[in-house]
Amino acid sequence: MKTTGNTILVTGGGSGIGLALAQRWHDAGNKVIVTGRNVAKLDAAIAGRPNMSAATLDVTDADAIAAFAKDIVAEHPGLNILVNNAGIMGTEDASAKRDLAEAEATVVTNILGPIRLTDALVEHLTAQEGAAIVNVTSGLAFVPLPKAPTYSATKAAMHSYSVALRIQLAGKIEVIELAPPAVRTDLTPGQSTREGYMPLDEFADEVLSLFATEPTPEEILVQNVLALRNAEANGSVPQVLGMLASL
Ligand SMILES: NC(=O)c1ccc[n+]([C@@H]2O[C@H](COP(=O)([O-])OP(=O)(O)OC[C@H]3O[C@@H](n4cnc5c(N)ncnc54)[C@H](OP(=O)(O)O)[C@@H]3O)[C@@H](O)[C@H]2O)c1
Repeated sequence: MKTTGNTILVTGGGSGIGLALAQRWHDAGNKVIVTGRNVAKLDAAIAGRPNMSAATLDVTDADAIAAFAKDIVAEHPGLNILVNNAGIMGTEDASAKRDLAEAEATVVTNILGPIRLTDALVEHLTAQEGAAIVNVTSGLAFVPLPKAPTYSATKAAMHSYSVALRIQLAGKIEVIELAPPAVRTDLTPGQSTREGYMPLDEFADEVLSLFATEPTPEEILVQNVLALRNAEANGSVPQVLGMLASL
């Protein structure tokens, strides 16, 4: 993936990881479009950055995705990179029958959203120079957090989807997986100040330096996520799972 001269669409770019990456990509010489549901957050994200623009998009709305994709390629014909970053996370107690609304929303947001947006943009992206799709998964794609089973499963699904897509789109669109470790954002209550979680700026700076590696790695993995990513290969899943189960 080129590091400058791209037009990059970042879903969930109004806060957290999406925002930190979007602003860095802008400042490095790219046009960046951020989307999300919260207009105030999006307006704040683009303030003072002339090559950033914002558009509202709820990634759980299939019709909205189709309409948005049409509009965005008309407005930004050079759009060549899609970053599927928007996501939600919740904890669940699956030991008794319960209301599955949040679990179902997690599946729709974290899996169906990226699948639908990719589908809506794949033909446009295929026609672009230097096209790429970046799917933001998680270290929890590789070893689940027991108290967040649906969330972990959505990220494992998006890892698998990215691996398959990389083969199908080879030579047309680069497929890159970005799997963050625990990072200080507002993804879950209290997370933005939690001890042991990676500071957001430190994480985003390390991610940008990994994107600058040539050729771009298929998986963008900061040092802090390697214990999760490599647990299966290292034979350390029981220990890592035990640690995650104690959280
Ligand atoms: N922080 C971590 O520790 C961590 C670790 C591994 C992976 N990740 C992943 O990183 C990504 C970004 O998360 P974050 O930590 O930066 O949390 P965040 O600050 O809460 O960002 C999530 C973004 O997703 C957007 N979003 C949520 N539901 C949406 C919907 N239905 N339609 C459109 N946008 C929606 C939100 O924007 P609106 O509210 O404006 O819609 C928000 O900007 C997620 O995919 C998350 O799973 C995070």
